[in-house]
Amino acid sequence: MRIGVFDSGIGGITVLSEIRKRLGSVDYVYLGDTAHLPYGTKSPAQVERLSVDCARVLKEKKVDVLVVACNTASSLAIDSIRLAMDPIPVFGMVEPGVEAVLSAIANLEKNTPSMTSKAPIVVLATRATVRSGAYSSALKKHLIPHLLTDEESHSVFELACPLLVPMIEEGWIDHPILHDTLALYVGPHLSETPGVALLGCTHYPWIIAAVQKSLPGWKVVDSANAVASALERSEFKIAKPLTRLGSGNVQWIFTDPDAVPAFATKMIHSMNSGEI
Ligand code: DGL
Repeated sequence: MRIGVFDSGIGGITVLSEIRKRLGSVDYVYLGDTAHLPYGTKSPAQVERLSVDCARVLKEKKVDVLVVACNTASSLAIDSIRLAMDPIPVFGMVEPGVEAVLSAIANLEKNTPSMTSKAPIVVLATRATVRSGAYSSALKKHLIPHLLTDEESHSVFELACPLLVPMIEEGWIDHPILHDTLALYVGPHLSETPGVALLGCTHYPWIIAAVQKSLPGWKVVDSANAVASALERSEFKIAKPLTRLGSGNVQWIFTDPDAVPAFATKMIHSMNSGEI
């Protein structure tokens, strides 16, 4: 069994790492399209073209399953990717992200019975993901059916943070500029009632500590775990069962290898040596 994972850069490594923890000795091919990063500032047509190109590379590598470990590609190009990969099953990030939010909301409400208003939901993402509205519609679809009216539901706010990906790729994952930028993005939108913040970009788990600092009292969640569990649960739905046969090795492909930041290279080495 070989699982293909792709992202515009190093963001998808956060997803790959969760998948590996759960599925272990399967073979993996990771493609980071570092030559065309960032996707999040590009037009829907460009994101679609680049994403389909990445999918085709992984199809040629004979992957049995594809994980689109990029929220931007998942929000804007999942249908075209599925078409290009057919009949290979494709997993995106949006549904698992929604699942992570719903379970965090349920926990929050269970543990804080004194809460008088519905916890707000904020999705931090790239500009392209926010413009697509993919998270708002998916969240509303899941939230509204349980409630009587739109007004009684949780408020959902998608916040575009276009400067974060370049900073992360630059290696500024704990830099004062990063903390200031987060404060500027998030500060004006902090409501009095803390809620749930979803990292709607696979690059953001690299800076989860900084995001948490900018959102005191909020529950910050990412979708890596949810996508790994969706993959595990799907064993019976995909044509070829997810046999655990394989070495657990990752074949790394970066379209611009020189653009991989040092902290990510360190993690790649740890994965290659079996340390993690
Ligand atoms: N990591 C990607 C995402 O989840 C893309 C970031 C970018 O290239 O702008 O959206």
